[in-house]
Amino acid sequence: MTEAAMTSGNGLSLRVHARRMLTETVCEFDLRRSDGGPLPAFEAGSSLIVQTPSSERRNYSLCNDDRERHRYVIAVKREATSRGGSRSMHDEAHEGVVFEVELARNGLRAGQGRRHLLVAGGIGITPMMSLLRRLARDPLNAFRLLYLARSRAEAPYAEELARMGLGNALTFHFSAEHGGRRLDVRPMLKDNGTGTHLYYCGPGRLMYSIGMSSIHWPRIHVHFEQFSSLAGTRAGDEAFTVKQASTGRIFEVGGNETILDSLRREGLKPEASCESGTCGKCRMTLVAGEADHRDMYLAPEDRPSSIMPCVSRSVGGAELELDF
Ligand code: FES
Repeated sequence: MTEAAMTSGNGLSLRVHARRMLTETVCEFDLRRSDGGPLPAFEAGSSLIVQTPSSERRNYSLCNDDRERHRYVIAVKREATSRGGSRSMHDEAHEGVVFEVELARNGLRAGQGRRHLLVAGGIGITPMMSLLRRLARDPLNAFRLLYLARSRAEAPYAEELARMGLGNALTFHFSAEHGGRRLDVRPMLKDNGTGTHLYYCGPGRLMYSIGMSSIHWPRIHVHFEQFSSLAGTRAGDEAFTVKQASTGRIFEVGGNETILDSLRREGLKPEASCESGTCGKCRMTLVAGEADHRDMYLAPEDRPSSIMPCVSRSVGGAELELDF
Protein backbone atom coordinates (compact mmCIF):
# COMPACT_ATOMS: atom_id res chain seq x y z
CA MET A 1 0.00 0.00 0.00
CA THR A 2 1.34 3.41 -0.89
CA GLU A 3 1.39 6.32 1.48
CA ALA A 4 -1.04 8.15 -0.76
CA ALA A 5 -3.86 5.75 0.02
CA MET A 6 -3.43 6.00 3.74
CA THR A 7 -4.87 8.62 6.02
CA SER A 8 -4.06 9.02 9.68
CA GLY A 9 -4.28 5.96 11.94
CA ASN A 10 -5.72 2.92 10.19
CA GLY A 11 -7.84 4.98 7.83
CA LEU A 12 -7.95 4.75 4.08
CA SER A 13 -9.12 7.21 1.52
CA LEU A 14 -11.37 5.35 -0.94
CA ARG A 15 -13.32 6.35 -3.99
CA VAL A 16 -16.80 5.27 -5.01
CA HIS A 17 -15.95 3.23 -8.09
CA ALA A 18 -19.55 2.16 -8.77
CA ARG A 19 -22.92 2.11 -7.09
CA ARG A 20 -26.17 0.34 -7.88
CA MET A 21 -29.59 0.07 -6.30
CA LEU A 22 -30.23 -3.43 -4.97
CA THR A 23 -33.79 -2.56 -3.95
CA GLU A 24 -35.76 0.65 -3.86
CA THR A 25 -34.08 1.65 -0.60
CA VAL A 26 -30.76 -0.22 -0.55
CA CYS A 27 -27.75 1.00 -2.49
CA GLU A 28 -24.57 -0.98 -2.96
CA PHE A 29 -21.23 0.84 -3.09
CA ASP A 30 -18.06 -0.56 -4.66
CA LEU A 31 -15.17 1.29 -3.00
CA ARG A 32 -11.63 1.25 -4.38
CA ARG A 33 -8.37 3.06 -4.12
CA SER A 34 -8.03 5.84 -6.66
CA ASP A 35 -4.80 4.28 -7.95
CA GLY A 36 -6.40 0.84 -8.23
CA GLY A 37 -3.95 -0.62 -5.71
CA PRO A 38 -4.65 -3.45 -3.28
CA LEU A 39 -6.55 -2.96 -0.05
CA PRO A 40 -5.79 -4.47 3.35
CA ALA A 41 -7.23 -7.97 3.70
CA PHE A 42 -10.45 -8.30 5.66
CA GLU A 43 -12.01 -11.22 7.41
CA ALA A 44 -15.37 -12.57 6.24
CA GLY A 45 -18.13 -11.13 8.40
CA SER A 46 -16.28 -7.94 9.27
CA SER A 47 -17.35 -4.38 8.64
CA LEU A 48 -16.13 -1.01 7.54
CA ILE A 49 -16.38 2.26 9.42
CA VAL A 50 -17.24 4.93 6.89
CA GLN A 51 -17.02 8.67 7.30
CA THR A 52 -20.05 9.64 5.24
CA PRO A 53 -20.00 12.75 3.04
CA SER A 54 -21.98 14.43 5.84
CA SER A 55 -19.02 13.63 8.17
CA GLU A 56 -20.81 11.06 10.29
CA ARG A 57 -19.20 7.75 11.14
CA ARG A 58 -21.25 4.72 10.25
CA ASN A 59 -20.52 1.03 10.37
CA TYR A 60 -21.44 -1.05 7.31
CA SER A 61 -20.86 -4.75 6.74
CA LEU A 62 -18.51 -5.84 3.99
CA CYS A 63 -20.48 -7.88 1.49
CA ASN A 64 -17.89 -9.03 -1.02
CA ASP A 65 -15.68 -12.11 -1.08
CA ASP A 66 -12.95 -11.79 1.55
CA ARG A 67 -10.39 -12.99 -1.02
CA GLU A 68 -10.89 -9.84 -3.09
CA ARG A 69 -8.19 -7.26 -2.50
CA HIS A 70 -9.14 -4.64 -5.09
CA ARG A 71 -12.38 -3.42 -3.50
CA TYR A 72 -14.64 -3.21 -0.49
CA VAL A 73 -18.37 -3.58 -1.13
CA ILE A 74 -20.99 -2.30 1.27
CA ALA A 75 -24.76 -1.94 1.00
CA VAL A 76 -26.59 0.92 2.70
CA LYS A 77 -30.27 1.10 3.43
CA ARG A 78 -31.81 4.54 3.34
CA GLU A 79 -33.41 4.76 6.75
CA ALA A 80 -36.62 6.75 6.92
CA THR A 81 -35.50 8.19 10.25
CA SER A 82 -31.91 8.80 9.16
CA ARG A 83 -30.20 11.68 10.92
CA GLY A 84 -27.92 12.04 7.96
CA GLY A 85 -25.70 8.95 7.65
CA SER A 86 -27.63 6.74 5.23
CA ARG A 87 -29.28 9.73 3.58
CA SER A 88 -25.90 11.26 2.90
CA MET A 89 -24.59 8.00 1.45
CA HIS A 90 -27.56 7.74 -0.89
CA ASP A 91 -27.71 11.38 -1.91
CA GLU A 92 -24.06 12.45 -1.88
CA ALA A 93 -21.80 9.40 -2.29
CA HIS A 94 -21.87 9.46 -6.08
CA GLU A 95 -19.34 7.73 -8.31
CA GLY A 96 -15.98 9.44 -7.92
CA VAL A 97 -16.64 10.78 -4.42
CA VAL A 98 -13.78 10.04 -2.03
CA PHE A 99 -14.21 9.42 1.68
CA GLU A 100 -12.40 7.97 4.63
CA VAL A 101 -12.95 4.42 5.77
CA GLU A 102 -11.44 2.16 8.37
CA LEU A 103 -11.68 -1.60 8.81
CA ALA A 104 -13.66 -2.37 11.94
CA ARG A 105 -13.45 -5.34 14.23
CA ASN A 106 -14.80 -8.62 12.96
CA GLY A 107 -18.55 -8.65 13.41
CA LEU A 108 -19.56 -12.19 12.57
CA ARG A 109 -16.45 -14.31 12.84
CA ALA A 110 -17.01 -17.84 11.53
CA GLY A 111 -17.14 -20.20 14.49
CA GLN A 112 -14.84 -23.17 14.93
CA GLY A 113 -17.04 -25.95 13.63
CA ARG A 114 -18.60 -27.43 10.56
CA ARG A 115 -22.29 -26.74 11.07
CA HIS A 116 -23.65 -23.24 10.66
CA LEU A 117 -27.12 -21.72 10.71
CA LEU A 118 -27.44 -18.16 9.38
CA VAL A 119 -30.63 -16.15 9.84
CA ALA A 120 -30.99 -12.79 8.13
CA GLY A 121 -33.89 -10.36 8.16
CA GLY A 122 -34.00 -7.77 5.35
CA ILE A 123 -30.89 -5.58 5.36
CA GLY A 124 -29.50 -8.02 7.94
CA ILE A 125 -28.35 -10.07 4.96
CA THR A 126 -25.34 -7.76 4.48
CA PRO A 127 -23.05 -9.19 7.19
CA MET A 128 -23.99 -12.69 6.03
CA MET A 129 -22.83 -12.22 2.45
CA SER A 130 -19.08 -12.46 2.95
CA LEU A 131 -19.51 -15.06 5.68
CA LEU A 132 -21.67 -17.19 3.42
CA ARG A 133 -19.18 -16.95 0.55
CA ARG A 134 -16.48 -18.14 2.89
CA LEU A 135 -18.49 -21.04 4.31
CA ALA A 136 -19.66 -22.11 0.85
CA ARG A 137 -16.18 -22.53 -0.54
CA ASP A 138 -15.26 -25.28 1.92
CA PRO A 139 -17.17 -28.44 1.01
CA LEU A 140 -16.76 -29.76 4.56
CA ASN A 141 -19.02 -27.04 5.92
CA ALA A 142 -22.71 -27.82 6.40
CA PHE A 143 -24.63 -24.57 6.48
CA ARG A 144 -28.07 -23.17 5.98
CA LEU A 145 -29.18 -19.59 5.34
CA LEU A 146 -32.66 -18.55 6.26
CA TYR A 147 -33.45 -15.20 4.66
CA LEU A 148 -36.60 -13.41 5.81
CA ALA A 149 -38.01 -10.32 4.13
CA ARG A 150 -41.33 -8.75 3.33
CA SER A 151 -41.00 -9.46 -0.39
CA ARG A 152 -38.41 -10.53 -2.93
CA ALA A 153 -38.30 -6.98 -4.31
CA GLU A 154 -37.37 -5.68 -0.86
CA ALA A 155 -34.70 -8.32 -0.21
CA PRO A 156 -31.19 -7.12 -1.11
CA TYR A 157 -29.03 -9.75 -2.81
CA ALA A 158 -31.98 -12.16 -3.22
CA GLU A 159 -31.21 -12.67 -6.90
CA GLU A 160 -27.51 -13.06 -6.32
CA LEU A 161 -28.11 -15.64 -3.60
CA ALA A 162 -30.51 -17.55 -5.83
CA ARG A 163 -27.77 -17.69 -8.48
CA MET A 164 -25.17 -19.05 -6.07
CA GLY A 165 -26.49 -22.59 -6.43
CA LEU A 166 -26.89 -23.15 -2.71
CA GLY A 167 -29.74 -25.62 -3.19
CA ASN A 168 -31.38 -26.69 0.06
CA ALA A 169 -28.92 -24.58 2.03
CA LEU A 170 -30.91 -21.47 1.10
CA THR A 171 -34.45 -20.80 2.29
CA PHE A 172 -36.31 -17.61 1.54
CA HIS A 173 -39.39 -16.58 3.46
CA PHE A 174 -41.17 -13.60 1.97
CA SER A 175 -44.04 -12.74 4.27
CA ALA A 176 -45.98 -11.03 1.45
CA GLU A 177 -46.23 -14.46 -0.19
CA HIS A 178 -47.66 -15.93 3.02
CA GLY A 179 -50.46 -13.49 3.66
CA GLY A 180 -48.14 -11.25 5.66
CA ARG A 181 -47.25 -14.06 8.06
CA ARG A 182 -43.73 -13.93 9.46
CA LEU A 183 -41.84 -17.18 9.86
CA ASP A 184 -41.61 -18.43 13.41
CA VAL A 185 -37.93 -19.28 13.81
CA ARG A 186 -38.23 -20.50 17.38
CA PRO A 187 -38.75 -24.21 16.59
CA MET A 188 -35.51 -24.26 14.59
CA LEU A 189 -33.56 -23.09 17.61
CA LYS A 190 -34.98 -25.51 20.09
CA ASP A 191 -32.28 -28.12 19.69
CA ASN A 192 -28.69 -26.98 19.84
CA GLY A 193 -27.21 -30.42 20.44
CA THR A 194 -25.29 -30.65 17.19
CA GLY A 195 -22.60 -28.06 17.84
CA THR A 196 -24.14 -25.77 15.25
CA HIS A 197 -23.01 -22.15 15.18
CA LEU A 198 -25.83 -19.62 14.92
CA TYR A 199 -25.43 -16.22 13.21
CA TYR A 200 -28.22 -13.70 13.03
CA CYS A 201 -28.89 -10.13 12.02
CA GLY A 202 -32.01 -8.16 11.24
CA PRO A 203 -34.64 -5.84 12.65
CA GLY A 204 -35.11 -5.48 16.39
CA ARG A 205 -38.08 -7.83 16.61
CA LEU A 206 -36.17 -10.64 14.90
CA MET A 207 -33.08 -10.01 17.01
CA TYR A 208 -35.11 -10.20 20.16
CA SER A 209 -36.96 -13.32 19.10
CA ILE A 210 -33.79 -15.20 18.12
CA GLY A 211 -31.87 -13.91 21.11
CA MET A 212 -34.51 -15.20 23.50
CA SER A 213 -34.97 -18.49 21.62
CA SER A 214 -31.26 -19.26 21.62
CA ILE A 215 -30.63 -18.33 25.22
CA HIS A 216 -29.88 -21.99 26.02
CA TRP A 217 -27.22 -22.24 23.30
CA PRO A 218 -23.55 -22.12 24.34
CA ARG A 219 -22.54 -18.48 24.02
CA ILE A 220 -19.51 -19.31 21.89
CA HIS A 221 -21.88 -20.79 19.31
CA VAL A 222 -24.03 -17.68 19.03
CA HIS A 223 -22.96 -14.75 16.85
CA PHE A 224 -25.01 -11.72 16.00
CA GLU A 225 -24.69 -8.31 14.45
CA GLN A 226 -26.86 -5.56 15.84
CA PHE A 227 -27.84 -2.85 13.42
CA SER A 228 -28.35 0.74 14.21
CA SER A 229 -31.95 0.36 15.32
CA LEU A 230 -30.49 0.10 18.79
CA ALA A 231 -27.70 2.50 18.14
CA GLY A 232 -27.30 6.22 18.31
CA THR A 233 -30.16 8.34 19.43
CA ARG A 234 -33.93 8.07 19.43
CA ALA A 235 -36.66 10.62 19.01
CA GLY A 236 -37.25 12.36 22.33
CA ASP A 237 -33.78 11.72 23.75
CA GLU A 238 -32.77 14.40 26.23
CA ALA A 239 -29.53 16.32 26.36
CA PHE A 240 -27.30 15.63 29.36
CA THR A 241 -23.77 16.22 30.56
CA VAL A 242 -20.82 13.92 31.04
CA LYS A 243 -18.15 14.73 33.59
CA GLN A 244 -14.69 13.34 33.00
CA ALA A 245 -13.69 11.78 36.32
CA SER A 246 -9.98 12.46 36.00
CA THR A 247 -10.22 16.16 35.10
CA GLY A 248 -13.69 17.33 36.08
CA ARG A 249 -14.17 18.55 32.52
CA ILE A 250 -17.81 18.74 31.43
CA PHE A 251 -19.04 17.58 28.02
CA GLU A 252 -22.48 18.51 26.73
CA VAL A 253 -24.26 15.65 24.96
CA GLY A 254 -27.07 16.91 22.73
CA GLY A 255 -30.37 15.10 22.37
CA ASN A 256 -29.43 14.01 18.88
CA GLU A 257 -25.87 12.90 19.50
CA THR A 258 -24.16 10.10 21.39
CA ILE A 259 -21.56 10.45 24.12
CA LEU A 260 -18.92 9.49 21.56
CA ASP A 261 -20.18 12.19 19.18
CA SER A 262 -19.83 14.75 21.94
CA LEU A 263 -16.29 13.68 22.87
CA ARG A 264 -15.23 13.77 19.24
CA ARG A 265 -16.78 17.18 18.77
CA GLU A 266 -14.49 18.35 21.57
CA GLY A 267 -11.44 16.88 19.86
CA LEU A 268 -11.08 13.61 21.76
CA LYS A 269 -10.51 10.30 20.03
CA PRO A 270 -12.33 7.68 22.08
CA GLU A 271 -11.85 4.00 21.26
CA ALA A 272 -14.76 2.58 19.29
CA SER A 273 -15.56 0.12 16.57
CA CYS A 274 -19.10 -1.14 15.94
CA GLU A 275 -20.84 1.97 17.30
CA SER A 276 -23.91 -0.16 17.82
CA GLY A 277 -23.36 -1.44 21.34
CA THR A 278 -22.17 -4.92 20.47
CA CYS A 279 -18.36 -5.11 20.28
CA GLY A 280 -17.31 -3.81 23.69
CA LYS A 281 -14.52 -1.61 22.36
CA CYS A 282 -15.82 1.72 23.66
CA ARG A 283 -16.49 0.51 27.22
CA MET A 284 -15.99 3.15 29.94
CA THR A 285 -16.19 3.04 33.69
CA LEU A 286 -19.37 4.56 35.06
CA VAL A 287 -18.28 6.40 38.19
CA ALA A 288 -21.56 8.11 39.08
CA GLY A 289 -25.02 8.64 37.67
CA GLU A 290 -27.73 6.39 36.35
CA ALA A 291 -27.21 5.07 32.82
CA ASP A 292 -29.84 4.19 30.27
CA HIS A 293 -28.08 1.08 28.94
CA ARG A 294 -28.87 0.46 25.28
CA ASP A 295 -26.12 -1.95 24.38
CA MET A 296 -26.16 -5.69 23.90
CA TYR A 297 -22.69 -6.22 25.32
CA LEU A 298 -22.63 -5.61 29.06
CA ALA A 299 -23.74 -8.37 31.40
CA PRO A 300 -26.33 -7.29 33.99
CA GLU A 301 -23.72 -7.41 36.75
CA ASP A 302 -21.45 -5.01 34.82
CA ARG A 303 -24.09 -2.37 34.24
CA PRO A 304 -23.84 -0.49 37.52
CA SER A 305 -20.14 0.22 36.89
CA SER A 306 -19.73 0.35 33.10
CA ILE A 307 -21.29 2.02 30.10
CA MET A 308 -21.02 1.73 26.31
CA PRO A 309 -20.93 5.39 25.23
CA CYS A 310 -21.64 4.63 21.57
CA VAL A 311 -25.29 3.96 22.34
CA SER A 312 -26.07 4.45 26.03
CA ARG A 313 -27.16 7.65 27.70
CA SER A 314 -28.27 8.96 31.05
CA VAL A 315 -31.63 8.37 32.65
CA GLY A 316 -33.73 11.53 32.69
CA GLY A 317 -30.99 13.83 31.46
CA ALA A 318 -28.98 13.65 34.69
CA GLU A 319 -25.20 14.00 34.65
CA LEU A 320 -22.98 10.94 34.23
CA GLU A 321 -19.45 10.82 35.60
CA LEU A 322 -17.24 8.60 33.47
CA ASP A 323 -13.65 7.48 33.53
CA PHE A 324 -12.02 7.84 30.11
S1 FES B 1 -18.15 0.83 19.78
FE1 FES B 1 -18.77 -1.25 19.92
S2 FES B 1 -19.90 -1.31 21.78
FE2 FES B 1 -19.44 0.78 21.50
